[in-house]
Amino acid sequence: MPIEAKSWATSSAGRVLFGAGVVQRTGLVASRLGSRVLVCTDSVLLGAGVIEPVLASLRAASVDFDIFDGGEPEVSRITVERAAEFARAKSPDVLIGVGGGSNLDLAKGVALLLAHGGELSDYYGESLVPGPTLPVVAIPTTAGTGSEVTPVAVFGDERRKLKAGVSSTYLLPAWAIDDPQLTLTCPPSVTAHSGLDALSHAIESLCTASYDTFAEDLELGRIFSGKNAYSDALAMKAVGLIATSLRNAVSNGHDLVAREQMMLASLLAGMAFGAAGTGVTHALQYPIGAMTKTPHGLGIALMLPAVMRFNAAVRVQELAQIARLLEPALDLDDAAAALEAADAVARLGTDVGVGVGLASIGITSADIAGIARDAIGIERLIRLNPRPLTVADLELILASAL
Ligand SMILES: NC(=O)c1ccc[n+]([C@@H]2O[C@H](COP(=O)([O-])OP(=O)(O)OC[C@H]3O[C@@H](n4cnc5c(N)ncnc54)[C@H](O)[C@@H]3O)[C@@H](O)[C@H]2O)c1
Ligand SMILES: [Fe+2]
Repeated sequence: MPIEAKSWATSSAGRVLFGAGVVQRTGLVASRLGSRVLVCTDSVLLGAGVIEPVLASLRAASVDFDIFDGGEPEVSRITVERAAEFARAKSPDVLIGVGGGSNLDLAKGVALLLAHGGELSDYYGESLVPGPTLPVVAIPTTAGTGSEVTPVAVFGDERRKLKAGVSSTYLLPAWAIDDPQLTLTCPPSVTAHSGLDALSHAIESLCTASYDTFAEDLELGRIFSGKNAYSDALAMKAVGLIATSLRNAVSNGHDLVAREQMMLASLLAGMAFGAAGTGVTHALQYPIGAMTKTPHGLGIALMLPAVMRFNAAVRVQELAQIARLLEPALDLDDAAAALEAADAVARLGTDVGVGVGLASIGITSADIAGIARDAIGIERLIRLNPRPLTVADLELILASAL
């Protein structure tokens, strides 16, 4: 695959601990960052004992901690503001997010509000965070979002038709602690949805426009730099890992090898898109997620093949390679293989129990115009598409995804 731009710029993740058992280092990591910890999690994970290894490690290192367990799937700005209020009374100097992307984004939001005050909505957008936040240690319990290494946090906001995003390099967690043992309890549907989200991060970052197009933008405060040699390498590796491990992780949740490969894929895909950016699939998911209240990874999985087909003609080599990784038996030339990539993604989705088409989550043709109009305004993602996009194009993509 050719590397499109000879020179590139990117921002990248903080420190990462990876592997079965590394969660035992949490106490040590936290004690180096501060003396008073707030753990942000949810009652499901607390009740099921999933976060117990984190707490045990904090106790072993004699780190003082409090727990906010009010996290929720697709976390809302109201919950973040409530958590920040709880946090202010405890005066933590370190935040630990434990859970899926929702809890990690909760911790990022609380760290932001404690450092800079105001309302969460003051920071919706790109590079509006004025300086460092409290340090965040991010400990994922799903293999999917990669939020532990991204400069992004995503929130529901009941006052808006779209989910809201805060993008800032100040949101990069100080440490990511990726322990695949924490994902062993993930139910099949969460494993499937979050795993397909990771796949979408890899595929979307491989298909974005390239840095050549945005040469001066990083200095202007842009977070996503478009595809480059760094993000391409990470993303392609992630696609290969997902191709060989997602089906196993869903069908046998106790398969630690599959869990480890999925966690690595999620991490690498997070690093890839944290640098390059995601694209139209994610832009369309902002209104679709807000409208249907369905899990992020599900909406993404139902949308992704249609976006891949739309871009197939201008990302032939990338998509051909993706198709061959997903289905090694394919014996086709590049142009034909590139067209097959979208079907290969859809087949993987079906194999792990995701339905077909946006209609399966309640979207109808009457919704298309509104979704397209809302998504075209998400300029930071729309501009990354390798083909110019109009509202009419988005309507076509949505119609074919229905
Ligand atoms: N910040 C980023 O870079 C980024 C990237 C992609 C997605 N996101 C956001 O992340 C959120 C989705 O995160 P997600 O897909 O990880 O799911 P999630 O965090 O919403 O969790 C889904 C459910 O799974 C449960 N769960 C999580 N881990 C478990 C485990 N090990 N065992 C049993 N149950 C478990 C949770 O308690 C929750 O009920 C969305 O809000 C999405 O917008 C953020
Ligand atoms: Fe995503």
